[in-house]
Amino acid sequence: MKHKMIIAVDGHSSSGKSTFAKAIANEMDYLYIDSGAMYRAVTLYCIREGLVSGSHLHENEIINRIQDINIRFSYNPDLERHETYLNGENVEEEIRRIEVSSIVSVISKIGKVRERLVQLQREIGMFKGIVMDGRDIGTVVFPDADIKIFMTAGEKVRAERRFSELKEKGLDVDYNDIHANIADRDRIDSGRSISPLRKAPDAHILDNSEMTVEEQMDWFRELLKNKTENK
Ligand code: DC
Repeated sequence: MKHKMIIAVDGHSSSGKSTFAKAIANEMDYLYIDSGAMYRAVTLYCIREGLVSGSHLHENEIINRIQDINIRFSYNPDLERHETYLNGENVEEEIRRIEVSSIVSVISKIGKVRERLVQLQREIGMFKGIVMDGRDIGTVVFPDADIKIFMTAGEKVRAERRFSELKEKGLDVDYNDIHANIADRDRIDSGRSISPLRKAPDAHILDNSEMTVEEQMDWFRELLKNKTENK
């Protein structure tokens, strides 16, 4: 396939979307965009600005300020990754913390927040040659994406992966909190009225509960080969 494609990777929390999407981007020499990082950055902004008190959101104020929130990605050659910047500050580590994870799904339900982020995501995608992961990439952001993948894995497998990942980063986390957070986010992400997490009818399902990343890449290469041959 000569032209540069848009590849959409959607799926459940901690199903390994970002690892897989990054591996695809690396192999294809495409840009990898983590759309969840954008929702996390908005959430961090809201926490810092006091726009969330406990479970109460100051929704009108969040909507009023949405245009003030500037999010961009920049490549860090030392760590060989794209990092998320919120109004000029590198927040890549902070947005992964449990405080952000525990609120991000409710912030993501706000229609105006989604509108703004979808607009930014489409602007990034205009240049094509991207792999974007999230919840609504194949259904809403890029309904005409060239390849759509819907990823999932057992809830327990996902909680264990997430727990090990945070532990490896040296964070003090409790397994039960992580498991509860994943179950909660699945429920909210799939149940919200605007752009819920859904498999697009033309998406290919990948359950990677018992697959290594290399096996997932073999699966992807096969998919790409079929797509190229059927063109
Ligand atoms: O991919 P992630 O776990 O970092 O995403 C964090 C949250 O952001 C997720 O629970 C729901 C929300 N999200 C979304 O609503 N739409 C997207 N395209 C990506 C993420």
